[in-house]
Amino acid sequence: MEFYDDNLNVYTRDFEKVDIDAASLSKGKFESYMLKEIFEIPQALKDTNTTLSETDLPLDFIEILKNTPIINIVACGTAYNSAMAARYVIENLTRIPVNVEIASEFRYRNPIILKDSLFIAVSQSGETADTIAAVKLAKNLGAYVAVITNVASSSITNFANYTIHTKAGTEIAVAATKSYNCQLCAFYNLALYILKYRFNKDIKKYQEELYKLSYSAKKLLKNTEELITLAGQYSFNRSVFFLGRGLDYAVALEGSLKLKEISYIHSEGYAAGEIKHGTLALIEKGTLVVLLVTQKELAEKTMNALHEVKARGANVLAITQLNDIAKDSSLNHVIKLPEVDDLFAPVLEVIPLQLFAYYMARARGNDPDKPRNLAKSVTVE
Ligand code: M6R
Repeated sequence: MEFYDDNLNVYTRDFEKVDIDAASLSKGKFESYMLKEIFEIPQALKDTNTTLSETDLPLDFIEILKNTPIINIVACGTAYNSAMAARYVIENLTRIPVNVEIASEFRYRNPIILKDSLFIAVSQSGETADTIAAVKLAKNLGAYVAVITNVASSSITNFANYTIHTKAGTEIAVAATKSYNCQLCAFYNLALYILKYRFNKDIKKYQEELYKLSYSAKKLLKNTEELITLAGQYSFNRSVFFLGRGLDYAVALEGSLKLKEISYIHSEGYAAGEIKHGTLALIEKGTLVVLLVTQKELAEKTMNALHEVKARGANVLAITQLNDIAKDSSLNHVIKLPEVDDLFAPVLEVIPLQLFAYYMARARGNDPDKPRNLAKSVTVE
């Protein structure tokens, strides 16, 4: 292999051995990469949590964690959706304000970035052009840039002051799955770093919750039958709506993105309390509404949306770990999650949504690994 610069002069580059084994590049016993990658979530969670909880942070990063007045986060697509969930988690645990923005919008609004504040970019591939451009701008404006990426040697890391490496393993399917779960874990670990270094808090109980997620994900993946049946029933619906409040709203965005990108069914992720301001007009007899209800304190309010959409003829599938909610007789279908603390629920509740999107795509005869019009990495603006 030879490398040439713009003037066609040969130059040398260093070679780096990357940590990818042959098994991660094959489908193994699975019919598609996407399904394989969903089933790799338990291992990916374990690897990510173990690595990040045992990492010694550099002193300059610790200083920023101790002092930053605000955290700005940018990303695209699924990575953006993970950041939306992170906002609730970080603000809830640390009370530090968090801004989340779509990377392609960030640099076109003349953003205000405080010098020495923490700026985080999230990118599975580390090659997304808009996210890299946002990072460059934030750095020029004086921010300390931390990058959350699944590819340790990716382009974005060249512009970062610090890289948080998720250990999802190679992700080949265009639709991001296990990388999303691991991005969430990276954010939980980040919030715990802040609790530990800035507020001197004991983080053991949270770490235990994080460790449990891998086992719970494994349990959840044992039963996929119900989702296959549901996909068969709804695969020819015109629209599917995902509703939730708080953290569940953030997960609704990801459930909707997953469904639309591989099944090509129109879908919206919406804040449950917002539907009566317009979206309710789209609900008709037989419309499927997926109601995400994992946040105990918000559950009663979220269930108001159930009655609103039922009254317009919708069929409702609830995803919850809460026993009272699961027993509600007005629900058409329920997927019960393993017991999980509300704050960590997104990591589990997204799994049935990923599987649902997958089986919907299959039921419609689509190739879930290669959705039309989309690429795994978007390296152009
Ligand atoms: O590699 P990145 O995380 O930067 O990619 C961002 C988006 O392009 C990506 O998440 C896209 O939305 C996926 N196809 C979603 O499944």
